[in-house]
Amino acid sequence: MDVVFVEKILRVQPNVKKLYLLLRASDAHSASQRLHNEVISKDLFRVVREKLGANLNSLISEKVTPVAGDITCKNLGVKDSNLVERMWREVDVVVNLAATTNFEERYDVALLLNTLGAKLVLDFAKKCANIKMLLHISTG
Ligand SMILES: NC(=O)c1ccc[n+]([C@@H]2O[C@H](COP(=O)([O-])OP(=O)(O)OC[C@H]3O[C@@H](n4cnc5c(N)ncnc54)[C@H](OP(=O)(O)O)[C@@H]3O)[C@@H](O)[C@H]2O)c1
Repeated sequence: MDVVFVEKILRVQPNVKKLYLLLRASDAHSASQRLHNEVISKDLFRVVREKLGANLNSLISEKVTPVAGDITCKNLGVKDSNLVERMWREVDVVVNLAATTNFEERYDVALLLNTLGAKLVLDFAKKCANIKMLLHISTG
């Protein structure tokens, strides 16, 4: 769903100033690789790629910042303290769609991600000075 979300923002809301996209990754480089390999290169981006052509890459570099993190950790697992502080200053909308969707997930794993993780996202959103909305997506 994160792929759908990023594509839709770039296609219908390209005026968005910045999209910090949190991805599970060990560092900024692998987060950036995941963004390119698992998000932007998907077929779903065909429409926006045809619409923007070569401008798509510059739009992505300008607007989308991949962030290595993990929502089950404090400060969403973002290790770069300058980046965390920048996010606290700039972010006004937080969208959480990270979850395990396995209905037979181990109890501790599901609790850690879908319950504690959601709480840690809320804690992070509360630290954003200009927060206007926290959107939490789930099934139940
Ligand atoms: N798909 C639907 O039709 C649908 C309908 C209604 C509601 N929903 C709800 O929408 C939410 C997302 O569903 P989905 O279909 O997008 O599920 P999904 O494809 O399994 O995506 C879940 C995402 O969460 C990420 N994630 C897992 N653990 C994480 C962590 N600790 N920190 C950061 N990210 C983590 C996963 O990243 P990795 O790639 O690193 O594993 C993955 O990208 C769920 O709450 C689901 O119940 C989905």
